Amino acid sequence: MSVSNIQVQLARQPEGNPKATDFQVVKTAMPKAGPGQFLARNIYLSLDPYMRGAIAGRHMGHQRLNPGDVIYGRCLAEVMESQHADYKAGDYVVLESGWQQFYVSDGAAADEVRKIDAGLGVPLSAHLGALGMPGLTAWAGVEKLANPGLGSTFVVSAAAGPVGGTAGQIAKAKGARAVGIAGSDEKCRIVVNEYGFDACVNYKNKNWTEELKAACPNGVDTYFDNVGGPMLDAVTQQLNLYGKIVLCGLVSQYNRGADSAFNGHNLGPFVGKRAQLLGLVVYDYYARMNEFLKAVVPLVNAKRLKFHEDRADSIEKAPEHFVRLMSGQNTGKALVVIGPEKA
Ligand SMILES: NC(=O)c1ccc[n+]([C@@H]2O[C@H](COP(=O)([O-])OP(=O)(O)OC[C@H]3O[C@@H](n4cnc5c(N)ncnc54)[C@H](OP(=O)(O)O)[C@@H]3O)[C@@H](O)[C@H]2O)c1
Repeated sequence: MSVSNIQVQLARQPEGNPKATDFQVVKTAMPKAGPGQFLARNIYLSLDPYMRGAIAGRHMGHQRLNPGDVIYGRCLAEVMESQHADYKAGDYVVLESGWQQFYVSDGAAADEVRKIDAGLGVPLSAHLGALGMPGLTAWAGVEKLANPGLGSTFVVSAAAGPVGGTAGQIAKAKGARAVGIAGSDEKCRIVVNEYGFDACVNYKNKNWTEELKAACPNGVDTYFDNVGGPMLDAVTQQLNLYGKIVLCGLVSQYNRGADSAFNGHNLGPFVGKRAQLLGLVVYDYYARMNEFLKAVVPLVNAKRLKFHEDRADSIEKAPEHFVRLMSGQNTGKALVVIGPEKA
């Protein structure tokens, strides 16, 4: 086993779009587990858009990071050694262990440790994507907030990603018509051919709103919004009366650089459509993780819920992979492979 620990720390606060040079890769001493603690060996690191705001102290409950701080991050890990009553060597867990190879946890609430059942017949990495926080977000928004009806039209943005892709597939499993919006033809191909959506529109095409209209001949009943900004206004124009909008993410605004000129929404069209705006925060649903897994694991096993991953192959590549995510170049769940599944 490695005798040192590689961490990714903040080098400087990013301005606007993050750059790889905003981060530094540092070798530190291998941590040791003491009484009441366990040593986790991180295998997969999840990269998520909220991290951009978390680093800057703009995301719920996350303190602004300073240079030298390890970057926030959730990992799937193997317990290597344990002096904690609830965890034993060989257990797989998901926990908030940051961008690094090893982490010592005392199992406190802040570490959000969750034991993983490795016998579900699904890839371990899925516990950071379709069966993890992004999937729970999608399930909560579809099942608990929007509850789209049979034959209704369900539109979702960032549709190739883990939240959007899972949301559309769950809506489809409930009998809705799923239409994606994504940022490239390749992403749309995945959304339709792999995820099984009924249609997908590339919003980088000049006439994308006309294409959306053609893909939604009966109008939009539910819009699951992962993007915010002008796209929300454009889709609201096509919302049916009393339609629902799940306000899930604002990824078009997270980088907030000099080029983010968006100044807010005109609320008139939301009133005109009598729209129901449904704010979603996944933390409200963590206690329902088992209910979510019970509903969604069978869909994965029956190949009715598919996912795509965008992997980097070492911890050293985490900074550039995050830059890739925050500029929309990822296709599917952004993950960093830190080590092998078995030590
Ligand atoms: N409310 C909650 O509790 C909660 C929980 C988890 C996630 N979320 C939100 O859900 C959304 C999707 O998350 P995810 O993990 O599934 O991410 P994701 O889809 O893997 O990645 C983000 C995607 O957003 C799009 N994007 C990135 N930068 C953009 C920009 N500047 N302008 C417009 N689009 C941009 C890109 O897709 P395109 O190429 O298709 O544009 C990119 O691939 C995010 O907004 C995230 O913050 C919310």
